[in-house]
Amino acid sequence: MKMLDQLKTIEEDALATLAAAHDAAGLEGWRVAVLGRKGSLTHALRGLGQLPRDERPAAGAEANRVKDRLEAAFSAHQEVLQQAEIAATLAAEAVDVTLPGRPPSLGRIHPSNAVLRRIYAIFGQMGFQVYDAPDVELDEINFQLLNIPPDHPARDMQDTFYTKDPAVLLRTHTSPGQIRAMRQFAPAPLRVILPGKCFRYEQVTARSEFMFHQVEGLAVGKGITMADLKGTLQEFANQLYGEGRQLRFRCSYFPFVEPGVEVDMDCILCGGRGCRLCKYSGWLEISGAGMVHPVVLRNGGYDPAIYTGFAFGMGPERITMLKHSIDDIRYFFSNDVRFLEQF
Ligand code: FA5
Repeated sequence: MKMLDQLKTIEEDALATLAAAHDAAGLEGWRVAVLGRKGSLTHALRGLGQLPRDERPAAGAEANRVKDRLEAAFSAHQEVLQQAEIAATLAAEAVDVTLPGRPPSLGRIHPSNAVLRRIYAIFGQMGFQVYDAPDVELDEINFQLLNIPPDHPARDMQDTFYTKDPAVLLRTHTSPGQIRAMRQFAPAPLRVILPGKCFRYEQVTARSEFMFHQVEGLAVGKGITMADLKGTLQEFANQLYGEGRQLRFRCSYFPFVEPGVEVDMDCILCGGRGCRLCKYSGWLEISGAGMVHPVVLRNGGYDPAIYTGFAFGMGPERITMLKHSIDDIRYFFSNDVRFLEQF
């Protein structure tokens, strides 16, 4: 019987092509081609009506069987493909819970701040309190009240970043904090350290940055002498670099102190014999210092006939460079973790 043969062919072909469908698109193409409105099976079913009456029951029953079989085969194949897809996704996105985690990298104290904290602790033990003064300063306080008038040649020592207002600048040293602290405490005795950033319009080199830190020290009271300055800096050097350091005070000039000195320490690397670090001099410079100039005392509100004081100013980056034999100051602020991680 022709119809039965036709149904058999449709069934065999359809089952063969279904097995070849490997993805959702292939499956949908198969469904349209076989079971769809214009599909091969639908087409055959429409022909049932034209069959002679006696052939219809057998052909109708066979057609229904083929239809059920193909629909069941379609569902089964669809299920197989979906499971395969899920399995592939799971395999591709698998999380291996046995892998060790990546530890988050922890931040740490910047070397400049670490040495600043050491300096606060050492001077804190000697009764110095930390006094904060602004980074943006008046020309008057940064220079004039420190005995550096507008045309004074000492201004050449510190090339300055000015703002649009010529009276306002980025402080070139922490010494202006001396005026601010004295004006707050005068005529009471005072002992402060003034840490903070300083800015100089200088060529950046291995030794010099355009932004760096300083720590100023200031003590004012009755009967303060150069011996107090020497003892204070000696104690500082012993605590930061180890007992028994030798200090040397060389005459120098800063307009806001009289007498003024540069303070050197025996080389921490060679102990004074001479090496590359100390440029074969045996000494390392650690601070500028001196007795507060009478004009500066008066500008701060103290009568220089009654009060005296000492002051010093040091650079913590240079101190850190000495402590750790760092040969280039630019490492401090270039944000290279390979450098920062070493501290
Ligand atoms: C001063 O700035 C004085 N105000 C210090 C002072 C205070 C003297 C109180 C007397 C009494 P000087 O320009 O030498 O001095 O700077 C002091 C320190 O700051 C230097 O020894 C150095 O450690 C640091 N320093 C100066 N310029 C730079 C720079 N461009 N980069 C890094 N550190 C610097």
